[in-house]
Amino acid sequence: MAQKLRDKVCIITGATSGMGKAIAESFNEEGAKLMLSGRNEEKGNALTEKLENAIFMAGDVSDPSYNEKLVNKAIENFGRLDIVSINAGILGLGNVVDLPIAEWQKTLNTNLSSIFYVSKYAIPHLEQAEGATILINASIAAYKSFPNHPAYCASKAASIALMKQMAVEYGPKIRINAICPGPVDTPLLWDSAKAFKNPERAVENAGKATLMKRLGTPQEIAKLALFLVSKDASWITGTAMTIDGGILNV
Ligand SMILES: NC(=O)c1ccc[n+]([C@@H]2O[C@H](COP(=O)([O-])OP(=O)(O)OC[C@H]3O[C@@H](n4cnc5c(N)ncnc54)[C@H](O)[C@@H]3O)[C@@H](O)[C@H]2O)c1
Repeated sequence: MAQKLRDKVCIITGATSGMGKAIAESFNEEGAKLMLSGRNEEKGNALTEKLENAIFMAGDVSDPSYNEKLVNKAIENFGRLDIVSINAGILGLGNVVDLPIAEWQKTLNTNLSSIFYVSKYAIPHLEQAEGATILINASIAAYKSFPNHPAYCASKAASIALMKQMAVEYGPKIRINAICPGPVDTPLLWDSAKAFKNPERAVENAGKATLMKRLGTPQEIAKLALFLVSKDASWITGTAMTIDGGILNV
């Protein structure tokens, strides 16, 4: 069968873990050339060794200059840019009174400002490509609130507003969408469970709370990501798609 992303050049942030990693593996299978980003050099290098045509650059997405370097490195190595898949994210746990201001700012910068930064440097290159697209990994936390996640919920809601604004500005040349996963079995979900007395029970309950009675897998999310960045989704833009085992309907 023909590969869906044959020779497409793709930046993936948050690629060293969880959903970003599953997205990198899926896009690799579909023939994409990958510029991968994450915080951990060792994990990034281990991943690129397993993939066919991938390079990795460690750094902090909340730093504007890192995003500029990431885009430049993709262009230097592959000569073009077609897809940006934005997955880097942190939780910033604590209620409004307890959450240190520095942690609020770090969470907003990592989850929201980083989308602005990477898009700012990527868009001029995406505009040169046929069928270019940006896909933002938001969350059901944009719609449904959780205790101790003020910065997370605010950043995810705002990331959808930013996605819609950019879709208006850069269509029809660039399609820009978001996905809103429910509870997915990744290290980040286990970190968020630390806010509960019994983290294992909290993770189990998160799965049971969905209509499908289980957590999602990173691979299930990667399937939606692949659809949304591929030609199959050529008339989809400005949309935030939930993929949540039905939890928003509970
Ligand atoms: N796991 C869930 O249940 C869930 C649900 C909805 C949305 N999400 C969102 O999905 C995305 C991926 O989350 P995940 O669950 O796969 O998490 P994860 O913790 O497994 O992976 C997060 C990735 O982001 C990277 N990252 C974090 N901060 C960074 C920074 N400052 N600079 C560079 N890279 C950074 C990490 O290196 C890692 O590669 C996040 O945006 C998260 O908010 C997760």
